[in-house]
Amino acid sequence: MERFDRILSLYDGYVDTYRDAAGALPHLMQLKRTHTAFVVKNATSIADGEGFSSALREDAMIAALLHDTGRYEQLKLYDTFRDVESVDHAVLSHKIVKEKGWTDDGAILDAVLFHNRRELPEGLDERTALLSHTVRDADKLDIFRVLEKEIATSDWRKDSRTFWNLATNLPPNPDVVNAILAHRPVDYKDIKSLADFILIQVGWMVSGLYFATSRRLCAERGHLAFRRDFLHSLTDSPDVDRVCDAAQGM
Ligand SMILES: [Fe+2]
Repeated sequence: MERFDRILSLYDGYVDTYRDAAGALPHLMQLKRTHTAFVVKNATSIADGEGFSSALREDAMIAALLHDTGRYEQLKLYDTFRDVESVDHAVLSHKIVKEKGWTDDGAILDAVLFHNRRELPEGLDERTALLSHTVRDADKLDIFRVLEKEIATSDWRKDSRTFWNLATNLPPNPDVVNAILAHRPVDYKDIKSLADFILIQVGWMVSGLYFATSRRLCAERGHLAFRRDFLHSLTDSPDVDRVCDAAQGM
């Protein structure tokens, strides 16, 4: 764990440059630092569950640690985490990690760069593919946690900004439902309602988690049951159970 510990202290030294005089990170940056810690934890669990060698396990932890490096600078420069309105944060993360010289391991750098792509490029070598899949699964698993926390702690019914002003009372868009049931990635422009937004995550459970360990962790943590109940509170469309049932057996 020597490599991980060394890069962790470099990373946290970098994050410290975004702290105010009192030593606090802006709230949204602190949320990203917390997210990153959970993604590292998830990556470690995936590596253990999948029987990675100890070297590959450490590589996976490093890739997870570095995957969102660019989020701090993105927020500072653009005051948003929305890539379409600012910059592709995976490209920025990759650029900063390279500039800082924290690692010159091409597979780790690629796992950072590819972590938010709709699909991984074809023809990756095995190590790059494993590291990329680990970061992507570990990230999604923590996004499940973040959404549940958001719903529990915000006044989302009154404040539509919590979920980007999406309508909370519309049934799922059939285009979204059909894409998920066909195991196709959802086109983000088809997201018309909060139900669609939640269903994207159910879609990840249908076809977006690569490792069996990730699917097991997802089941153990009750993320599907949470979304099924929540969707029922938004809409009585039968599509909710159709999609959730498809995720159930995965
Ligand atoms: Fe990310």
